Amino acid sequence: MTQASLGESVVQKIVHVQQNNGVSASATHTQPLWLLAEVTYRCPLHCAFCYNPTDYDKHTQNELTTEQWIQALRDARKLGAIQLGISGGEPLLRDDIEDIVIEAKKLGYYSNLITSGVGLTEKRIQAFKEGGLDHIQLSMHDITEEINNFITNTKTFELKKKVAAMIKNHGYPMVLNVVIHRYNIGHMREILEMAEALGADYIELANTQYYGWSLVNRSQLMPTKEQVDEAEAITNEFRANPNNKMKIFFVVPDYFSDRPKKCMNGWGEVFMIVTANGDVLPCHSARSLPNMQFPNVRDSGLEYAWKESPAFNKYRGDSWMKEPCRSCSEKENDLGGCRCQAFLLSGDADVADPVCSKSPFRHLIDQAIEDSKNPVMVAKPIVFRNDKNSKKIIAGEFNDRVESFHSLP
Ligand code: FES
Repeated sequence: MTQASLGESVVQKIVHVQQNNGVSASATHTQPLWLLAEVTYRCPLHCAFCYNPTDYDKHTQNELTTEQWIQALRDARKLGAIQLGISGGEPLLRDDIEDIVIEAKKLGYYSNLITSGVGLTEKRIQAFKEGGLDHIQLSMHDITEEINNFITNTKTFELKKKVAAMIKNHGYPMVLNVVIHRYNIGHMREILEMAEALGADYIELANTQYYGWSLVNRSQLMPTKEQVDEAEAITNEFRANPNNKMKIFFVVPDYFSDRPKKCMNGWGEVFMIVTANGDVLPCHSARSLPNMQFPNVRDSGLEYAWKESPAFNKYRGDSWMKEPCRSCSEKENDLGGCRCQAFLLSGDADVADPVCSKSPFRHLIDQAIEDSKNPVMVAKPIVFRNDKNSKKIIAGEFNDRVESFHSLP
């Protein structure tokens, strides 16, 4: 999955309508609205674009117990969280998701299972329905078996179609997430037609954002500007068709923009992520930032993490900003962009996101766009997300791939 794949746009709309237990989704940002429970880093898929940390192998031994997850749900609810994402890895590799769902329902969460579909059986979906799970978001990869199986390094194409039908049969809204990259961007029309044929209510076309495994594989995954423009035009054409009933979200790739995104809707503003081993983060990639200590639910509660921890306060508001962000008229709209992207590309987490046209590091993005036209760069082998490669990354084996994206201004 990618950061853009949380389905927040979908879920927030639904909650807005439903007004969960009298708590409005439009409440102020002094409280987390979203709790994302990354319950495990184990995954049967090996997606080349996975947003999980490339060093996840360090964090697989120490998963929170069911009781610890239930406590985290209670604590986050007390802080005001109303939307729960149950994610991974593949959450269905744990056998206690049913218990977590039941507790989420009792607490009044709007709950969303974010899954590859592997491990979803009739028995489990029935239990989720009875337990009160509100929403299932299924990842799909392409209309072709070849690309689905290649990009995930698995044989899951047929299974995903069966799971999509199972979700629909149980009366869930059909919510599909498709991460878009060089290998499937040319199939946009067919992907939309497939979603329609499956009876999708929502489809999120999440252009790859480059963090985690997708940064390691950026040269292989990044499409050209022309491909992105064409994909967006096809999406708009599909949307404009009066026969189309699906809601379509096209998550624009920020590299092809000159304005940075307001990442996570602001650091520590809306999202709180609890990872498989209990670390509490404001965004998925935060542990890639240097010299930061993130709280862990085993040592301190979520209230401390959200309100007092130095990590959550570090990039709140705008007092941390340097120029050109500090005096920029756009600073309230984008909050300087993404801190992790700033660090991963420039080596300094406190600078403007290099996507910004005013950033002294914008040339790094322009170089990436140039490289996307270079067949030699594109042809390098993909590093698939798996335990063996994670160990290699921890040992520094693929450093050259990401180091080559940095350069001096
Ligand atoms: Fe954007 Fe961390 S991923 S701030």
